[in-house]
This record gives sequence, structure tokens and C-alpha cells, in this order.
Amino acid sequence: MKNLLQDVARRAEGYIENLPYRRVGPTPEDLEALEALNGPLPEHPTSADEVLDLLDRYGSKATVASTGGRYFGFVTGGALPATLAANWMAGAWDQNAFSHANSPVAVILENIALGWMTDLFHLSPGTGGALVTGATMANFTGLAAGRHALLQNAGWDVEEKGLFGAPAFPVIVGAEAHPTLYKSLALLGLGRNRVITVPVDDQGRMRADAFPTLDTPAIVCLQAGNVNTGAFDPIAELCKRTHAAGGWVHIDGAFGLWTRIVPDLAHLTDGLEQADSMATDGHKWLNVPYDCGIAFVKNPTALRETMAISAAYLPQTAQREPRDYNPESSRRARGIEVWAAIRSLGREGLAGMIERNCRLTRRFADRLKTGGCEILNDVVLNQALVSFGTPEKTLATVKRIQEDGTCWCGSTVWQGKTAMRISVSSWATTEADIDHSAEAILRCARA
Ligand SMILES: Cc1ncc(COP(=O)(O)O)c(C=O)c1O
Repeated sequence: MKNLLQDVARRAEGYIENLPYRRVGPTPEDLEALEALNGPLPEHPTSADEVLDLLDRYGSKATVASTGGRYFGFVTGGALPATLAANWMAGAWDQNAFSHANSPVAVILENIALGWMTDLFHLSPGTGGALVTGATMANFTGLAAGRHALLQNAGWDVEEKGLFGAPAFPVIVGAEAHPTLYKSLALLGLGRNRVITVPVDDQGRMRADAFPTLDTPAIVCLQAGNVNTGAFDPIAELCKRTHAAGGWVHIDGAFGLWTRIVPDLAHLTDGLEQADSMATDGHKWLNVPYDCGIAFVKNPTALRETMAISAAYLPQTAQREPRDYNPESSRRARGIEVWAAIRSLGREGLAGMIERNCRLTRRFADRLKTGGCEILNDVVLNQALVSFGTPEKTLATVKRIQEDGTCWCGSTVWQGKTAMRISVSSWATTEADIDHSAEAILRCARA
């Protein structure tokens, strides 16, 4: 075991030290070489040293270097040093965060982490929370609590009776809601297509003037941070209008919620503290290793009544048992890395990281604009949309950038226009990374 762990530490150190010098995406040859990890089902044991060697020899080259400073795809955070170390420690501990009986340390760290985030996001003390796989499941969790509360108010116990025959209620989303929000609605039996869709403006913000007049309680899904533009829905006003009709506001803040920590950006989420539930990701702007999503529900009883389980073999305690607040049961102890991220950076360090990412995104957009590219969105956050001309030219340029390997950006279609997406979400990105990447992008655009 000792040699194995020393070996893995040495190999991981080599991987991380090489990040600034390697291409971001793997080559087709690196991917083809993964075939060496295939083969017939092993009938006999292989030593752990050899298993590790195979993984490193073939796997490391085939990774996407998304934990380095020049990965700008999707919305992808790196892994802060303290969180990687915590992840290794947690792996050695191998704790199940199901309940106190399984792991007091996992539950206590999770509780501390949830309490710290409640403070960071200026939520009410005592807000309910759950650490799940990602924002998709965090949206699911918040919306499940909303479904529970609205139907309970209508005299229907949805957990006991299911949705067949339940009183109907409207679900309202913006036209630019994230596709995974529809998945959560579908999983909850609320339907992808029976939603009322509110038109958005040119940045993807829900238009308050087009929001329906509510005369019945509804679940209203707002967004804090559009995946393409970074824009925020008008939260304060729509919370007020939803609550006046007895409804439930859920906010998808997969990355945008973290702007609450930055004094200069906090106005973007004005009114968010009034929302009933919200979702965010740890693996995006908190820069913890995959996977980690976080759900918050203002009324912890609603969350508990939605998720609680009981059985004779499960000890009943007076403490918060994660199994009663979470859609998952046995699960990895994500609170350890969240605790480590916040403990290592503190409020100030977290705000600095988010601010720096936003400043670097503006620098990136300025460089590309000066080089002749068109920036399609107002760069208010860490997201920028770039057009290189026609859709064909933009897609060809994105392909060339990915093949070039200096950095990695994906493509999108924003309100009918084909664009390249840039998301600067990693603590590891430096000014030099931005300048080097902008040069490579302009070179690919000219080619
Ligand atoms: C606004 C928004 N919601 C939800 C998600 C889904 O997050 P996850 O993949 O962590 O489930 C994303 C991912 O980019 C997002 O940007």
C-alpha cells in the first residue's frame, strides 16, 4: 500500500506539473491507445501497481486537461489544491455520507459546509440543504420540495399518493432555461412540454413585462447565470409576483449563485434570499473535484418531508441525517471537499477567484474583439460568445482551435447565431493563459 500511494502521488504530481506544457484536448492517437485498457474480461488478478501503471500510461494522455488553465469549455471549474488533497484524504477514509451512524465526520463536515454556504450566499440561517451530484440533481431536489409544498397546500400528499389525480398547478420557465432543468421537471412528472414559457431578452433574461399574471400558486423556475451569456433573470420582481399568488420560486444558479460573494456582483441576484429553493454546483465555480451539486430549500421541513426515509434498522437521532434531506442514499462525502475549499480560500479568497475569472473573461473578449472577432453578448460575468463570421466559418474555427490544442472552447447557437463559447471558471487560469489562448484563437480564425 505504501509504495502504491507514493507511486500515485508521484504520477499525479507529474500530471499536474505537465498541465501548462501539454495540449488541452487529447489527440486521436491518444484515444486510440485506450484500446490497450480493453480486452477480454480479466479472469485472474492483476497487481494494484500494474493497474495504476496502465491507467497512467494510457489514461493520463487521453484526459481533457480541464483542470489546467486553458480549458474554457462548458462551465468547468478546476480543483483547488486543498480540494484535491481533501479528495485524496476522503478516498482513503472511504466514508458513506448517508447518516451519522455511517460517518460522523462526513455528516459534521457537510453540516459545517452547508452552514458556511448559507452565510456566503446570505440565505436565512437554518436553510435546508443537500449535497448531490450536480446542478441537475440540485434542481431536481429543490423542485421536488416545491412540488411537495404546493400540493400539500392543496391538501394532497404527493409522496404518498403520487401525481395521478393530484391537483394541477402551472410551472413557469424562461425561454432560455437550461436543458437539464427540463430533465428535472420530466423526472418529477411535471412534464417538459406542459410548462408556460416566458420570452427572454437579447441576453436570455426572462422579460418581466411578458411574465404571466398569476392568480394561482405556481412553481416558477428562475435562472441566475445563463450558460451562454451569464445573464440573470429579474429575481426580486418575479419572487414578489410569484409569492403574491402563493407560489414557489426555484432558482437555477449552477454557477451564478457564487456571484453573491462578490460585493460588486451581488446586485445581480438582488432578492434571491426570498426564493424558496435554489441549486448550484461545487464543481463549477467553487473549484472542487467532480462531482458536487448543492440544493438549498428555505423551509427545511419541506425538504425533509420530501426526502425522509425510515426503517427499523436506521437509527433515529435528534441530529440532521443527510439521508432525510437528500434524493440519494449511500453517497460519497462531498462535504469534505466543499469544507476544504471554503476553509482554504475563505470568503475573501473565493470572492477574489470569481472576480478574477470575470476580469479575465473581459480581457479575453477584448483581445478577440481587437483581433476582429464579434462578441455577441454583454460580458457581465465569466461567459463570452464569439462569432468568427458565417456559421460555417465559426464552426470550422472552433474545430481548428480544438485540433490546435492550445486551449479548448466549444460551440453553441445563441438566439439563431452560431458562436464559440468561452467560460473562464478555473482558479488556475492566468493572464498569460488568456493571452496565449487568444493568440492561438486568432491564428486559427485567420487560417
Ligand atoms: C444554468 C445551469 N443549470 C444546470 C446545469 C447542469 O449542471 P450539472 O451538469 O452540474 O448537473 C448547468 C451546467 O452547465 C448550468 O449551466
